[in-house]
Amino acid sequence: MSGVTEAADAAASGAGATIGPVPADAASERAEAAAPDAAASPTSTTARADAVELGAPDATELGAPPTAGAAASGTVWLVGAGPGDAGLLTLRGLRALESADVIVADRLGARGVLDGLAAEGVHLVAEVIDVGKLPGHHAVPQDAINALLVREAQSGRTVVRLKGGDPYVFGRGGEELFACQEAGIDVRVVPGVTSAVSVPALAGIPLTHRGVATSFTVATAHDQLLPLGGGRDHTVVLLMGVGTLAQSALTLARGERGGDCPVAIVEDGFGARQRVTVGTLATIAAQAAERGVRSPAVVVVGDVVRLSPYAPAALASLDLTFDPLAVPRKAPSL
Ligand SMILES: C[S@@+](CC[C@H](N)C(=O)[O-])C[C@H]1O[C@@H](n2cnc3c(N)ncnc32)[C@H](O)[C@@H]1O
Repeated sequence: MSGVTEAADAAASGAGATIGPVPADAASERAEAAAPDAAASPTSTTARADAVELGAPDATELGAPPTAGAAASGTVWLVGAGPGDAGLLTLRGLRALESADVIVADRLGARGVLDGLAAEGVHLVAEVIDVGKLPGHHAVPQDAINALLVREAQSGRTVVRLKGGDPYVFGRGGEELFACQEAGIDVRVVPGVTSAVSVPALAGIPLTHRGVATSFTVATAHDQLLPLGGGRDHTVVLLMGVGTLAQSALTLARGERGGDCPVAIVEDGFGARQRVTVGTLATIAAQAAERGVRSPAVVVVGDVVRLSPYAPAALASLDLTFDPLAVPRKAPSL
């Protein structure tokens, strides 16, 4: 799909503005976090010594006999679908899909990729089982997904578990991996393009940029965000952050970043509702409420937002020692 469909709001003048009510998307994000692709609690995973096999690039190895200990069963491939555009599926992921007997797909990201492949004329023979949530519908519980993967593989089928973005970025990929390993199933992982990086790129926002930002943190804001150190040169990317936006903005503004730190929200990246909203930590919650910002969305906080062509002049003209904005900018096309 092509560029961003709607330009940013002009940011209201930052400092001192009251942070307004949040658009109510908390319920949807609560469901998302409980859904198959949701954030795993750090305490819910256990350290394992098992080496994880990354999927082989050679299609001839797909469907090859399973490794020792998994005799007579099929293979499970945990495949990252990317952010929803078939063009951002990896070649290794495509090969796995082409070799699959059954595809167990999430809603966010994964279905868009399957539809995109079909539109490109890619014919997949696999049965598709949709375990992703739809608004108002309950997701299949994680335990049931784990059991489904094991059952399908034990019946000798090649299973692709197609997950939005990257399986290991708030995707519960590790839980599915461990469940398969515990059942003695041969399981391989194909990393995917995470929304944390690719969705900001749609709005022309690099997470690091020489002279502007030297590090970044990706955090879930599904639960209340804890204070994160660093200033505006340390980019913060929030996933599942719409419902808690006002609280997160307050938390981040209290630190070194301050209320006039730039923020961008990119909604529904690569989707039909794709849209960018740019403001500051002091203004963004009110702007989001006014515009009816909805999940899924990626929130980016830090001076890198100023590099976006969607950043209004009020943000772009702040003083920087090294001013990358001296270089003419144009909207990116991904
Ligand atoms: C449970 S997390 C899964 C993240 C995924 N594993 C990844 O690597 O992108 C879901 C969150 O990812 C973000 N997200 C995923 N795809 C997105 C998209 N196409 N546009 C905007 N945000 C997206 C949103 O913050 C959403 O709430």
